Amino acid sequence: MKSLVVYYSRSNVTKKLAEDIASKVSGDIEEIVPKVNYKGKIGYVRGGKDAMQEKIVDLQPLKYDPQDYDVVYLGGPVWAGKAANPMISYLKQNEGKFSQIKFFMTAGSSGFESSFRQLEEYSVKPLKTLALTTKEVIKETYDLTSFTQ
Ligand SMILES: Cc1cc2nc3c(=O)[nH]c(=O)nc-3n(C[C@H](O)[C@H](O)[C@H](O)COP(=O)(O)O)c2cc1C
Repeated sequence: MKSLVVYYSRSNVTKKLAEDIASKVSGDIEEIVPKVNYKGKIGYVRGGKDAMQEKIVDLQPLKYDPQDYDVVYLGGPVWAGKAANPMISYLKQNEGKFSQIKFFMTAGSSGFESSFRQLEEYSVKPLKTLALTTKEVIKETYDLTSFTQ
């Protein structure tokens, strides 16, 4: 099973989880880097606004083509009860290229279900989803066995 792990992460929480998943599935890993800057305080406000508006943004060139993989793991943070918009930008840019997809999301506490529903609108029905709080990722109190099977 050829696996690609793709993630967007503003403050490295989802990044940590993505790296763990990639090592478990021995997959390639790709970071989504938007051309818009979402760092810092201004970036925080912009991120919340862009996520609410489901804004599609340009991304830096990607290394891997999701079409070449049996399964793509796509992850990122919840922003304002939605999937961080760089994630939907990635899905839009690669429309029709996913055979099987799994979503993983991190959030302070809430917004997972609405985010998963939104991601599904931009791709295909996921095989599996994984929702973890920031705290769970940092403390590593999770088990990836079922998600990565
Ligand atoms: C713009 C913005 C909006 C956010 N909105 C939510 C939210 O609606 N619900 C929530 O539980 N956490 C929210 N968070 C917290 C992040 O989802 C959480 O810290 C996440 O683990 C960060 O992942 P990252 O380090 O991979 O970017 C928000 C963070 C940002 C920057």
